[in-house]
Amino acid sequence: MDNCVKKVLFDEETLQLKIKELGAKITKDYEGKDLLVVCILKGAVMFVTDLVKRIDLPLQMDFMAVSSYGNATESSGIVRILKDLNEEICGKDILIVEDIIDTGLTLSYLIDILKSRNPNSVEICALLDKPDNRKSDLKIRYTGFQVADEFVVGYGLDFAEKYRNVPYIFVLKEEVYMK
Ligand code: IMP
Ligand code: MG
Repeated sequence: MDNCVKKVLFDEETLQLKIKELGAKITKDYEGKDLLVVCILKGAVMFVTDLVKRIDLPLQMDFMAVSSYGNATESSGIVRILKDLNEEICGKDILIVEDIIDTGLTLSYLIDILKSRNPNSVEICALLDKPDNRKSDLKIRYTGFQVADEFVVGYGLDFAEKYRNVPYIFVLKEEVYMK
């Protein structure tokens, strides 16, 4: 893997420390609520599994898949639901868990859909936030780290479906894109 890595942004220890901190905040904020954690597949899968272990509440989990990027590294603006939720969300407190928010188009679309199903509340927890490229007015309640406008992979994030399995987050070498 070393020959693909331009620079490591967040190593395993840094990620886990931040996730522990986020989990503690969420635990405090959602005490006594009917929390349903919604993981956006596939990018948030590593993050959600580590995060829920740090939330000390009897929460429920569900999964949703949307397509926004295809295999390119820039937002197409087109969002499609590939897999919908299994659970009813009416009256529940929904926490959407996402890997990274770039333009924000994917999540603003999703939030509108989820709100139309009458949950009690909808909030966002994103591991990474790329604020430079925002095209929608999103309120992110919980953020792990802010990143610059460069393409990052690892810990669930992919380039052409690869590198999701890498346990840290890194910037890919340019040569890899050129291939
Ligand atoms: P948005 O609609 O532009 O906010 O797109 C968000 C989605 O694009 C994320 O859920 C990721 O799947 C993908 N994405 C955005 N930036 C990156 C990146 O740097 N690496 C990998 N995926 C990214
Ligand atoms: Mg994603």
